[in-house]
This record gives sequence, structure tokens and C-alpha cells, in this order.
Amino acid sequence: MSFAELWASLLPIGRDPGTGGYRRYSWTPADLAARDWFRAAAGQRGLRTETDRNGNLWAWWDVAGMPATGQPAAIVTGSHLDSVPDGGAYDGPLGVISAFAALDDLRERGFTPARPVAVAAFTEEEGARFGVACLGSRLMTGAVAPAAARELRDGTGVSLAAAMAGAGCDPVGLGPDDKRLAAMAAYVELHIEQGSALAGLGAPVGIAEGIWPHGRWRLEFAGRADHAGTTRIPDRRDPMLPYAATVLAARQAAVDHGALATFGKVTAEPGGANGISSSVTAWLDARAPGQAALDQVTGQVTAAAEAAALAHGVGFSLRRESLTPAVSFDPALQARLGAVLAGQLPGPRRVPVLPTGAGHDAGVLAARLPTAMLFVRNPSGVSHSPAEYAEPADCAAGVTALAAVLAGLAGS
Ligand code: GLV
Ligand code: MN
Ligand code: MN
Repeated sequence: MSFAELWASLLPIGRDPGTGGYRRYSWTPADLAARDWFRAAAGQRGLRTETDRNGNLWAWWDVAGMPATGQPAAIVTGSHLDSVPDGGAYDGPLGVISAFAALDDLRERGFTPARPVAVAAFTEEEGARFGVACLGSRLMTGAVAPAAARELRDGTGVSLAAAMAGAGCDPVGLGPDDKRLAAMAAYVELHIEQGSALAGLGAPVGIAEGIWPHGRWRLEFAGRADHAGTTRIPDRRDPMLPYAATVLAARQAAVDHGALATFGKVTAEPGGANGISSSVTAWLDARAPGQAALDQVTGQVTAAAEAAALAHGVGFSLRRESLTPAVSFDPALQARLGAVLAGQLPGPRRVPVLPTGAGHDAGVLAARLPTAMLFVRNPSGVSHSPAEYAEPADCAAGVTALAAVLAGLAGS
């Protein structure tokens, strides 16, 4: 099955016919169908599949008779299959499909790995259902406590434990997977570029330098429900007003500190058009080039929210849902990728090296083993939207690059 066939077979899974965007939330029927697709793709290639204790999927190209040295040996590539609400087709799947295609490419060329190679698909990378981004890799590395993870709730109150159990995956084993991590020598994730730097540089593929520190905070404004047509202005305790002031403060804080701050999700209860809300819950996503700037942004936003809530007689509370420190990808692995790919692809001889504000499982795993990322040019510059795009020729260049990198890392 070629890249195009793999792509076409995954494309309909979890796509909303109205928006054309993906709603592949972990442990829902769409996610389970994507997991079946992964197992089928692996099975067609004779790869050994397994689901680890955290629900992450693995497809292994084993090396017969390889002595157990106790040293980290496996070279892993992959990405994720879940999506944000109405996500694009490329964020995650491009890395998984390119991984299978790169293995096909290596086999067709008669390459025999000297060490195990695996394709992985990590669970809930986007955090779209349970609120914690990179949940599968964070659980694996011990960055999230399993008991707390089991109790994470989706928007309808279903716990992660119940969702997993309902999908036939036992949540009892959730937690650190040191043995698996110890067996991994490197993880290389290919991903759609989430910006348009490569287009400006005339390069189909880039190498990641690092990831900005970033996090998610849940803000709760608690007011008092009342009648929109009869409640006098001085009598109102309207949580929408401090929320609105906080959105504007977040934009200003981002501008002040060269950072990014976004409210992309908000809910108002009880949600009547002719009523003052009883509460507003909103999620702040903040990212900055450095931890100090990120702290300044969140401090400024929190202070503004507290002051506005007080001024409007509204209660305010804030809870951090996730925080990812700055990541610098392994310099030696980065240099190795640069050396392998120099002059091998269309465009500039030296593959460009780019920072990113987006989170990835490669960033989480970087705390435990050498990791690296390849970006494939996205001419739209848009991501987390159905407008996300990569030209087929650039996807092919990505596969070529990944195959070359894997050959370099897994060869004798
Ligand atoms: C992952 O896509 C993120 O939100 O950075
Ligand atoms: Mn994403
Ligand atoms: Mn992604």
C-alpha cells in the first residue's frame, strides 16, 4: 500500500461531513476506527503491533536474533492520530503515514535494520477530549500521575478510565513505562509545518530546533444567573464581563512579551440568549520564547482576571491543566539529521532548522531520550483547521527524508 493508498484509507475516518474537519477524539468510535486502521496498516506490512499500558500504539519491525544488550536500541518514528475539534488531515496522521511509507521505502531498497524500528501513534496528543495535551507520552514518561489521569473528565463528565474501559483498554496499567523508554535509542517525529517559514525558504522539509514553553489554564468566572430584560445594571453579577476584559488583557500581555495567548474555548452556563450567565469557563493557551516571558504573560492575565472579577462582583478561580517547559531537541541528533539530509532534497542544500510554538510528543519524550523532528512545508501556513495542507511532492520529500534518517540511525 503506497503513501497515497494509506492516505486515502485514513482520510474518511472521523471527518465531519459538514465542516470537512476532523473530530478524532481519543477513545471515541472515530479514534477506535483510526486505531483499527493503524493495526491493519501494520499487519499488511508484517509488523508486530501492540498497545502499551497507556493506550499508545506500536508497530515493530523486529530484528531476528538480536542479542539483548540491555542498551537502548530501538529507533522509533510516528506521531498521533487524534485531532483538535475540526482539525486538519495532516497534523499527526502525516507523521504516522510517512513512517509506514518510509519503512516500505527501506524494504523496497533491500535495507535490513541492525536494530528494531517501530512506528508509534501516541494517544490524546491534542488533549481535545481530556484537556491534557500529549497525554499518552506524558503518562509514559511519568509527567502525569496515573491516578489523576484516570480521573480526568471530558466535557460530558466521562472519566478517562471509563472511556478506556469502554473501548476495551484496561486503565489499571496507566503510568510510567521505564522499560519501554529504556529500550528506545531515539524518536524521530515527522510533522506538518504549523506556519509558513519553509515556503519562504523554498524548502520542502525542515528540522526542528526546539519548542517554546507553553501551557493551558482553565479560568472559571462565577456570577449569578438573572433576567437579561429586567436586571438593572448595578444589580448584575455578570461573569461575561470579566471574561471579556481577560481576553483583551491576554492579547495585550502577549504583545508586551513577544508571546502568544489565545482563548479558543469558552462555555457559558446556562447558555440562554436572554439571560445573564451563572458562570463562564474559558481556557487560556499561552506560549512564549522563554519561561520568564511565559510566566509574565500568565501573571499579567491572572492579575487582570482577578481585578475584573472583583470589579464585577464575580468569583474567579484558575487551574493549570498542563505546562510544558522549553524543549531543545538533542543537538547531536539534530546535527546527524542535517548531515544525512544535506543535498538530498529539492531546495537549499542545508535543510533549514526551525523553532516552533506547537507541542509534540517528541517534546515530551525529549526529557528521556534523544528526539528530533522533521517538518513538511505547509503552503497555507494554517494548522488546527481543515485549511492545513501539504503538496503531494512535499509529502514524498518528507518520506524520502524520514527513510534516509531511519536508514542512518537503524543501519549497521
Ligand atoms: C499541539 O498541536 C499543540 O497544541 O501545540
Ligand atoms: Mn496539533
Ligand atoms: Mn500534532
